[in-house]
Amino acid sequence: MLTSSQIQKLKTELTDPIEVLKWANNQFHPKLAFASSFGAEDVVVIDMLMQINKNARIFTLDTGRLDQETYDVMDAIRHKYNINIEITFPDANEVIEMTNNFGTNLFYDSKDNRKLCCGIRKVHPLNKILSTLDCWITGIRSDQTNNRNSSNRIEIDTQHNDIIKINPIVHWDWQTTWDYIKSNNLVYNKLHDLGYPSIGCEPCTRAIKNGEDLRAGRWWWEQQSDKECGLHLDHAK
Ligand code: ADX
Ligand code: SF4
Repeated sequence: MLTSSQIQKLKTELTDPIEVLKWANNQFHPKLAFASSFGAEDVVVIDMLMQINKNARIFTLDTGRLDQETYDVMDAIRHKYNINIEITFPDANEVIEMTNNFGTNLFYDSKDNRKLCCGIRKVHPLNKILSTLDCWITGIRSDQTNNRNSSNRIEIDTQHNDIIKINPIVHWDWQTTWDYIKSNNLVYNKLHDLGYPSIGCEPCTRAIKNGEDLRAGRWWWEQQSDKECGLHLDHAK
């Protein structure tokens, strides 16, 4: 178990994303895994991980409501790197009870319903897999939401039993992310070319208009600016 002061020291020593990932791999593999939704940031992190360990673990939370384009990039990545992707699904009984009670498109009816759906389809499966890990990796960037402003490359994840959370490109901006994708000729989700900077589930994501915030297409019918589904809430450490 790492202390807060050890984390502070590591944060100043490990400033390069690859160095952070190498450290995490040495320290925690195989109880280390990358959570991937196969968005722009995630294909970058996968490419970095593959340079470090061909057996690095990658998991995805298949909500059952993803876009075909997301399944396409998932498979393209499996083939490109010749790797397995660990796929998690929501608990069937929880989905059945939810949809029986509130309908299949419940998320449009109220914020509580939307949070219920994100909880059952994303947060519960994430909690389940994280309970088996000592460290997880994400593709979050600090400028994505206000909540993520205070996130760091290495954190103690108080939301998940104090395991370590690594956010290797947390301080990258959108342009740096795309420069890496283009210069390394990475495969990426084709929805990015159709005006979707941030991609979640199909019914809850739309393309954005010029000048809109990069996350404006996520749960677009909700008014507040700082929208989260509940995977990343606590960045205090
Ligand atoms: S969300 O909380 O609003 O849905 P976002 O789409 O910004 O998250 O993605 C941020 C990071 O969360 C991704 O880089 C990835 O590490 C993780 N993540 C989001 N959705 C998934 C998913 N369906 N499966 C696995 N990881 C995910
Ligand atoms: Fe459900 Fe939409 Fe959340 Fe996906 S993004 S889990 S469909 S509410």
